[in-house]
Amino acid sequence: MYSLLLKIVVIFVFSATPIMAVGEIAEPTLILENGDKKLSFSRSDLLKRSDLKKIEVKEDPSYPGRVMIYQAVPVAALFAQTSIAPDAVIEFKCLDGFAATISQSRILNTDPKRSVAYVAIESAAESWPPVKSEGPSAGPFYLIWLHPELSSIAQEEWPFQLAGFAVKGSLQAMYPAIFPAQGAPSGVQRGFQSFTRNCFPCHTMNKSGPSDVGPDLNVPKSVTEYFTPGALRTLIRSPQDLRYFPRSRMSAFPSSILPDAELEDLIAYLGYMSKRKRP
Ligand code: HEC
Repeated sequence: MYSLLLKIVVIFVFSATPIMAVGEIAEPTLILENGDKKLSFSRSDLLKRSDLKKIEVKEDPSYPGRVMIYQAVPVAALFAQTSIAPDAVIEFKCLDGFAATISQSRILNTDPKRSVAYVAIESAAESWPPVKSEGPSAGPFYLIWLHPELSSIAQEEWPFQLAGFAVKGSLQAMYPAIFPAQGAPSGVQRGFQSFTRNCFPCHTMNKSGPSDVGPDLNVPKSVTEYFTPGALRTLIRSPQDLRYFPRSRMSAFPSSILPDAELEDLIAYLGYMSKRKRP
């Protein structure tokens, strides 16, 4: 899988260089891997699909304060061509190394009473604005949600510059070292759920996880051991309020995204895991 992703990265690196302007430009392609089966969806094929839909996003984590309109296809429709085990988790991977696992029940949901995931497709003719004040846009593929509030979709569940999806084993089978013990207090269990949604896309726990965009949160020292409780809360709420670091890649988690009680559960989980280090 990594070699495949590497190929995708190479295609994109090339298409960004001016040399390619004279040669052929490889078309952006979204890859879906399931065991040894691989499905590829090129941008032009996706834009021709009959299930392509216009979706308006009023609160877009990549474009705060703007109403965005996307052309998008339902994620469940892309997975319809392949069968997956009921306990398998789905991993998405982005061009910059951001990666996360997400439960099937969330990403493949088609029930309109809950949030529904779509892949938004940036057309070659009309590009989206840069995600930061400058630089690349969220495209060519961006995971967006219809009614994100219905399933409390976290901002980390809106990966931009999406490279593809891979079907994996269960989270427990893949990353046993991130789990609290079965008898752990319920706050710790809730904190663990919050960690997998909000932090695990960038941080490992006990060196375990799909992405190492940020440092491990538990080994060799837990962040609960070297940050004072107040500093840790400030950093999670708004990293720039703790230290000046314009190039920081850590997201802010204001209380609108991570309510106070959830932050306390999350910190309870981090503190609990400091007693369950795996070397
Ligand atoms: C989008 C990626 C991303 C997400 C999501 C993210 N972080 Fe971070 N985090 C980083 C990066 C990168 C750093 C390194 C410093 C920086 O770039 O700001 C960092 C630094 C930290 C640090 C400081 C560690 C140190 O030793 O300096 C802590 C603590 C932390 N993150 C906790 C969290 C928690 C808790 C969550 C979930 C609520 C979270 N992070 C979500 C990317 C992320």
